[in-house]
Amino acid sequence: MFSIVVHGGAGPKRDQESGDAARASCLAAAERGAAILSAGGSALDAVEAAARWLEDDPLFNAGLGAVLNADGEVELDASVMNGETLEAGAVAVVKTVKNPISLARLVMEKSPHVLLVGEGADAFARAQGVPAIAPGSLVTPLQRQRWLERTGATHGTIGAVAVDQRGQVAAATSTGGTAGKLKGRVGDSPLIGAGTVADSRWAAASSTGLGEFIIRVGLARAVLEGVRRGAALNLACEEAIAELKRIGGDGGLIAVTPSGGVGWAFCSERMAGAFVKSTGERGTFFD
Ligand code: GLY
Repeated sequence: MFSIVVHGGAGPKRDQESGDAARASCLAAAERGAAILSAGGSALDAVEAAARWLEDDPLFNAGLGAVLNADGEVELDASVMNGETLEAGAVAVVKTVKNPISLARLVMEKSPHVLLVGEGADAFARAQGVPAIAPGSLVTPLQRQRWLERTGATHGTIGAVAVDQRGQVAAATSTGGTAGKLKGRVGDSPLIGAGTVADSRWAAASSTGLGEFIIRVGLARAVLEGVRRGAALNLACEEAIAELKRIGGDGGLIAVTPSGGVGWAFCSERMAGAFVKSTGERGTFFD
């Protein structure tokens, strides 16, 4: 038994025209993770592989294609959590790394810390042998245009959650944050409990949407707490989103349980995603 769910971000309908492409890429990311799970690999490896796929796709607001901050720069946030050990790693305001999700994993596995930010995170990347990318290489023409026109209220994020054949869960989340954000702004994605959570006793979850609201309700952990209290996964997802909506938030989340259940919920105009289960069930969503 294994399951994986990925999302390509929740947000306004302005990006509706890329729905088919977003759906296809999300399914490809989920299939990539599922291949690892099918071969007996860990949920952690699966969510990292799926997240890297989505970071590398310029359709999504993470890695290549991330939105630009007020100064026209890319500043990336990411986190990962291992539900087996409750170990976690995260980076924020990173500028020189192509795949921040893998740098977050290095923080988890190669440092005594959970969260590194800014120049310190980039310096840690160099110390770990992660090559520096050329300045501006993650900036796509579309995002540059939106920055020049100041048309961005665009937000979004990518994420993956999985349960492996051993019943262990993991979660990964990565983002460029919100368009036009102040330099140094940090959203929910690198914050454990807000953007990402995984505990193999209960669930794993990854959030997307406006971080300023997600942080305040601890969105990912709210799902886990719902499951811990005995709610079915979909109800736990819906209740967490209802709380986000209650305070005026906009976003969504995906989740898995150790028994292979998959769930998602959102209150944005749309959320893109896909899932694959060991039963052969698979599907996409872009509503
Ligand atoms: N959810 C992504 C962010 O607000 O940064």
